[in-house]
Amino acid sequence: MAERFVLVLVLVIGGSPVNANAETFGKNYYMTWGSDHVAFFDRNREAQLSMDLSSGAGFGSRFRYGSGFFGMKIKHPGRDSAGVVTAFYTASDDGEMHDEMDFEFLGNREGKPITLQTNVFVNGVGSREQRIYLWFDPTASFHLYRILWNPHQIVFYVDEIPIRVFKNKTVSNGAAYPVQPMQVQASLWNGDSWATDGGQTKTNWSYAPFEARFRGFGINGCRTDNTSNCGSLDYWWNSPKHWQLDANEQAQYEAVRKKYMMYDYCKDRTKYPTPPPECP
Ligand SMILES: *[C@@H]1O[C@H](CO)[C@@H](O)[C@H](O)[C@H]1NC(C)=O
Ligand SMILES: *[C@@H]1O[C@H](CO)[C@@H](O)[C@H](O)[C@H]1NC(C)=O
Ligand SMILES: *[C@@H]1O[C@H](CO)[C@@H](O)[C@H](O)[C@H]1NC(C)=O
Repeated sequence: MAERFVLVLVLVIGGSPVNANAETFGKNYYMTWGSDHVAFFDRNREAQLSMDLSSGAGFGSRFRYGSGFFGMKIKHPGRDSAGVVTAFYTASDDGEMHDEMDFEFLGNREGKPITLQTNVFVNGVGSREQRIYLWFDPTASFHLYRILWNPHQIVFYVDEIPIRVFKNKTVSNGAAYPVQPMQVQASLWNGDSWATDGGQTKTNWSYAPFEARFRGFGINGCRTDNTSNCGSLDYWWNSPKHWQLDANEQAQYEAVRKKYMMYDYCKDRTKYPTPPPECP
């Protein structure tokens, strides 16, 4: 009864979160490369990308977005995945001045932990890597990875836990902040030139094909083909609730960073003798 009531509300109130799990792949996404390296399950509500020596694969959203709360449930390839990169990200059109927000899973030899890297590019400039270990095995089951992007902040979430906050400090101190319309994308590719132990640990192709699974193809985002005002408070992810972490999220965020963070560019004094302006 209660469930039915909630469903009705979602239909009636415009701008409520879409039920990402209900959407089929083709409504919002299409294969951008490696279209012979994908398989669909659960009536197109699950996509499996595969990678072998001939190709990896990737998909992208049909539309571009100017703000949103983008999410994807992902199951990383199992067994030995050294050199294999599974990515979920948003990116503006290709080019030297592009903006981008990334989750990248850096595979590893069997039994060694998979690293989750995040990065933010503005006007073609990245080098804002943070890397954490996960508190679960990302190859064992699906977990939800989300990127909130509104005029106030970018927050990367693993399930309900914020692991990274990138504040909009363009006005307060001139820091860079992504502003260009972005396509939501995911891919599985060979990153063994850099991904594992700085590129020293290579992909073992005897474990191919590597397979990553994706679910949750609904998109909570402001389509830039419909409006230029993606900062509008009409979108729930732009509401004051999402301008900063709440007390509970802040506590989880601090605990995760304390326990699981292995690299933070904001603290890398070799690379940045002075911390970049967006750093806390
Ligand atoms: C960043 O914040 C400033 C000041 O509040 C605002 O004017 C600007 O639109 C924001 N940038 C984005 C991309 O939303
Ligand atoms: C790749 O994995 C196979 C199977 O475990 C193993 O026999 C082989 O030595 C590995 N190759 C490399 C280069 O590690
Ligand atoms: C955006 O435009 C498309 C095509 O006109 C329409 O189907 C869709 O409902 C619009 N979305 C929003 C949020 O206005």
